[in-house]
Amino acid sequence: MAERKKITLPALFEKVARGTPITWLTCYDYPTAHLQEQAGIDMILVGDSLGMTMLGYDSTLPVTMDDMIRHAAAVRRGAPTAWVVGDMPYMSYQPSVESAIRNAGRFMAEAGCDAVKLEGGAEMADRVAAIARSGIPVIGHLGLTPQSVSALGGFRLQGKGAAQARKIVDDARALEEAGAFCILLELVPDRVCRLVTERAQHCIIMSLGSGPDAHGQLLIYHDAFALYPKFTPRMARVFADAGAVIRDGLDAYVREVTGRTFPQPENWFGMKDEEYDELVRLLG
Ligand code: KIV
Repeated sequence: MAERKKITLPALFEKVARGTPITWLTCYDYPTAHLQEQAGIDMILVGDSLGMTMLGYDSTLPVTMDDMIRHAAAVRRGAPTAWVVGDMPYMSYQPSVESAIRNAGRFMAEAGCDAVKLEGGAEMADRVAAIARSGIPVIGHLGLTPQSVSALGGFRLQGKGAAQARKIVDDARALEEAGAFCILLELVPDRVCRLVTERAQHCIIMSLGSGPDAHGQLLIYHDAFALYPKFTPRMARVFADAGAVIRDGLDAYVREVTGRTFPQPENWFGMKDEEYDELVRLLG
């Protein structure tokens, strides 16, 4: 791909105005960020899902701000023009407005992010407003919010019933009014997502497993490329089985080292005879 200009907030809103869906993927490391940058992905989420996909925890709850900063900075180095979003981990914004501003600021100052994301509806509007007032673009996250998985009763569809769906619609309005420039709807029914998208005034609505009618789509990279060993959720499509490709390569590596067909002369470096002879002499 030809080098592209840095993605900006106006560029994202221009895509929405043109009706061109925005592409968004999670990413947690430098080489994958480089690939996503080459593919022209618009937005990258350095999600706290890295607790599960990269660190092997059972949930996102143990992830710390320091974990997030280290991964977000690596992604920024690999994807200099994508719109990189730092995902605020558990208890980095819930305790107070002050903690929300301070930790959002860390993503911008220490990792070079373009925006931050946090989970929750109207109850988080004061955090969203304070972060936005500090000049940091902020994204809300509604529906299945993994940091509240215990309270939600597991990783399951949210907003199936009218009352719960109404709350999602109301929460989206509250977040937009608080200053969120974008809201992610995770695992809500397609028609709820469409309603929220239609009602959004100056807010980009993104879908993760919530149907086609949002302004763009997000997927977890490890789900889309078969790299998470525990499960692949229904909302994801496997676009390429990178896990199988790597596994085949690993089998070949074990085979070749064991069978002494790796390394070959092109994989090592020699030494001039006279230097070697001198070495033997020096060693006595
Ligand atoms: O951490 C993450 O990747 C997320 C997605 C589940 C949206 O927040």
